[in-house]
Amino acid sequence: MIKAGVIGHPISHSLSPRIHNQWFDDVGIEGAYQAIDAAPQAFEAAVYGLVEQGWAGLNVTIPHKIAALEIALERSPTAEAVGAANLLTFAGGDVYADNTDVFGFERSLEEIGVSASVEHAVVLGAGGAAAAVLYALRNSARVTLLNRTRERADALASRFPHVEARDWRERDALVAQAPDVLVNTTSLGMTGQPDLELAFGDAVPAAAVDIVYGKEPTPFLRMAKAAGVEKRMDGLGMLVFQAAPSFEAWTGCFPDADRTLAEVRSSL
Ligand code: ATR
Repeated sequence: MIKAGVIGHPISHSLSPRIHNQWFDDVGIEGAYQAIDAAPQAFEAAVYGLVEQGWAGLNVTIPHKIAALEIALERSPTAEAVGAANLLTFAGGDVYADNTDVFGFERSLEEIGVSASVEHAVVLGAGGAAAAVLYALRNSARVTLLNRTRERADALASRFPHVEARDWRERDALVAQAPDVLVNTTSLGMTGQPDLELAFGDAVPAAAVDIVYGKEPTPFLRMAKAAGVEKRMDGLGMLVFQAAPSFEAWTGCFPDADRTLAEVRSSL
């Protein structure tokens, strides 16, 4: 019996248990995946408690991704470069931290026929999800990062040689440069949040990716579509594609993520 889960705070609305438990059924492995709510001060004890109980590992979500990297005994180069971990794998009492959000974002791009090595990408937002996106775009010629709080954009950009920070109020002008891809990593457009204010002009990005999911389409992607952006992907792609290598880390089986993405999308 393989036990795994996702740990976060809050966690009740997570789609991950549904995705992973379906995969256990699909591949015929006896397993159980559950959501675990842990406040920041309880995070480390909760993780090591599950290590002792023989769990295979955990996915990690808001607000624990940085702490997950810090409490691990070993870290993958990707997790190290991003500065956050969304996957913990347990073996022999040890905790190994990895980051599959990078893969999730790269596969989301691939799904809409966009390379992760582009001439110009524009990324909006410098919060929790932005670092994985910037790292995934590391072979691009130029990545422009804009965030409401300029200091956070500067701090994040300083960690990546290919990334240049610009002012939040320049966003319409940068979108008008028609980048190869425009990515929203802000929380704007999530349920209960205001929509992103952005104006598209005559020249539009070739592709738009939103890390937000839920509303179908998300407000950002609805705007992008109306403006004529042809390639679009919401955050469900990143959610399902980060889950697949996590499942593989614990079971040795890589699941059919494309089928799952289609199923989850049609059921929402
Ligand atoms: P955090 O990392 O702060 O916990 P997050 O959800 O990972 O939060 O990131 C939120 C992102 O959405 C940030 O880039 C945030 O911008 P700030 O750094 O200026 O806070 C962005 N964001 C949230 N509300 C916003 C708003 N009303 N306008 C513009 N950007 C907003």
